[in-house]
Formats: sequence, C-alpha cells, structure tokens
Amino acid sequence: MTGLSLPRYAPDTGTHPDLDWPDYRSTRLRAPSRPPVLLPQRLTEVTGPLLGEDRVAPGDSDLTRQHPGEPLGERMILTGRVLDGDGRPVPHTLVELWQANAAGRYAHAGDQHPAPLDPNFTGAGRCVTDGEGRYRFVTIKPGAYPWRNHLNAWRPRHLHFSLFGRAFTQRLVTQMYFPGDPLFDHDPIFRSVRDPAARQRMICRLDLDVTEPEWALGYRFDFVLRGRDATRWEGPR
Ligand SMILES: [Fe+2]
Repeated sequence: MTGLSLPRYAPDTGTHPDLDWPDYRSTRLRAPSRPPVLLPQRLTEVTGPLLGEDRVAPGDSDLTRQHPGEPLGERMILTGRVLDGDGRPVPHTLVELWQANAAGRYAHAGDQHPAPLDPNFTGAGRCVTDGEGRYRFVTIKPGAYPWRNHLNAWRPRHLHFSLFGRAFTQRLVTQMYFPGDPLFDHDPIFRSVRDPAARQRMICRLDLDVTEPEWALGYRFDFVLRGRDATRWEGPR
C-alpha cells in the first residue's frame, strides 16, 4: 500500500466542449497549452475538508429571501436530482448556484454593464442533496446579458452551478439553460457543446407538478455525473 491513487475519469465521448474554443475568445488564454498532469490523491485530498449539511442552512436555497424585500423578476422553483452514470442518486452533495438578476446583471464588481442591480437579490445560493439525491432552489429567472466576446454577444438566460463531492478535489462546474431561448444559436459557449443531444441535456424543462399555483413556475433539471447521459461539464475532467 503506497497510500496513493490516481483519479480515473470516464473517457471523453467527444461531446464535451474543447478547452480551447476559438469562438469563445477567453479560452485562447485560459486553455492549457500542455497536456494535464494527473496528481496523486492522498488521504487529505479525498477525505477532507468535508463539506456537509452543518455548513449549509435550510434558507440558503431560497435566493428570494436573503434581504428585507423581495427581488424583482419572475419567481421560479428549480428542482431535480444528482445522478451518477448508472442512474443512481448521489446523496449529500453540495450544490451551489450563482446567477444574474432579472435584468441580467451580476452583483459583482466585474459586471459594470448598465442594467440595474437589485438591492434584494445577491444571486448566490446553495443546498445539499437529500438521501435520494434531490435538490431544490427558489430563485428569480435570470435575464440575458451582453458580453464582449464579439459584436452583439448576448448570453442566453442561464444559471451557474458547482457540485462538490466529499472533498475539495471533487468539484464539477456547469451551466443550465431555459427551454426555447432564442439566443442558443448565437452563443459560442452553448454551441461549444457540439453534440445537439448533449446541448438538450443542458436545458431544464417546465414542470407543472413543480409549479406552485399563483406563486411560481417550476422547472426540473437533473445533473448526471458520468456516463452516456452526462451533463456537459466545464474545464478539465
Ligand atoms: Fe453567467
């Protein structure tokens, strides 16, 4: 026993985005120029620090109740499951969400485009999946926003997600989109996933069983970590 193990990953089926995607200009500088090096994982990397329920309060999953007033915009519920490639639920996984407000502006110093900030909306939330791998957020549907990738570059409405396993080395990042967005065909990030079927798996679906009458539309979205139905993940895998 050496105490070392190299992480193993499912082979890329050719549907993940290329790290260097010419239509997404920032990837020219971000993409590694040399092949990645697999780092051995020791006990520290795979056991700690643990991310657990005690760090997440129940209210952290409701982004509409983090301030004295209610945020402006279209209230929505998002729920689903975290699954592995064999369809088994992944319990006790930290799911973090960050997003723009209803006007398409992030509450972040890096976002200075002239859309209004909402004093009642920060745009960040988190929760931990239950024993069946389920998660649930209440939030505001984000607006589209411009970015400077090219002339008239606008991002489709989207939510950003990070999922942690049982240690900091087990982190996956992705984005989720909304059905029928007219900007899909014009977004280099969405289009960096070349397989049309894989693009569809990045889009949530309206679900009237999740919808609460007179209060909020409901959507469903499952995160699939490995295998043929895997959600498209950003960055090295
Ligand atoms: Fe974004």
